Amino acid sequence: MKWDELVAVAWQTREHAYAPYSKFAVGAALMSINGRIYSGCNVENLSYGLTYCAERVAIGAAIAAGEREFLAMAVVAHTRVPISPCGACRQVMAEFAVPLVILANRNERLEFRLHELLPRACAGILDRANE
Ligand code: THU
Repeated sequence: MKWDELVAVAWQTREHAYAPYSKFAVGAALMSINGRIYSGCNVENLSYGLTYCAERVAIGAAIAAGEREFLAMAVVAHTRVPISPCGACRQVMAEFAVPLVILANRNERLEFRLHELLPRACAGILDRANE
């Protein structure tokens, strides 16, 4: 299937999750418009609120590598139904106008447009329509 590689990288990166508090490992992978893949896992902290979600780690890695435009993000975890990104991560995806979000568990894969997950969000500086 089309996003197999992206989802596979998300699963691989999930293996690196640092989640000693929740014991809940999450992996994410983000594809840029030129097909490069950047990935992240959750990185927890003793001060729980400082935890980084996998999605934001992947976005940070891509931005730090000089990317600005993206095709899709995959997010994976061992959940009963495919994982659902938190509101903060949806807003950060909106900042960079990530158009498609693929959510998967072991058995199921769902695809959403970001505007379905965060209706009426404005993209960040990339949303020239706001000027
Ligand atoms: N988490 C993510 O990394 N991504 C999500 O989409 C949901 C939640 C992390 C944060 C925390 O480390 C753990 O999962 C439990 O919430």
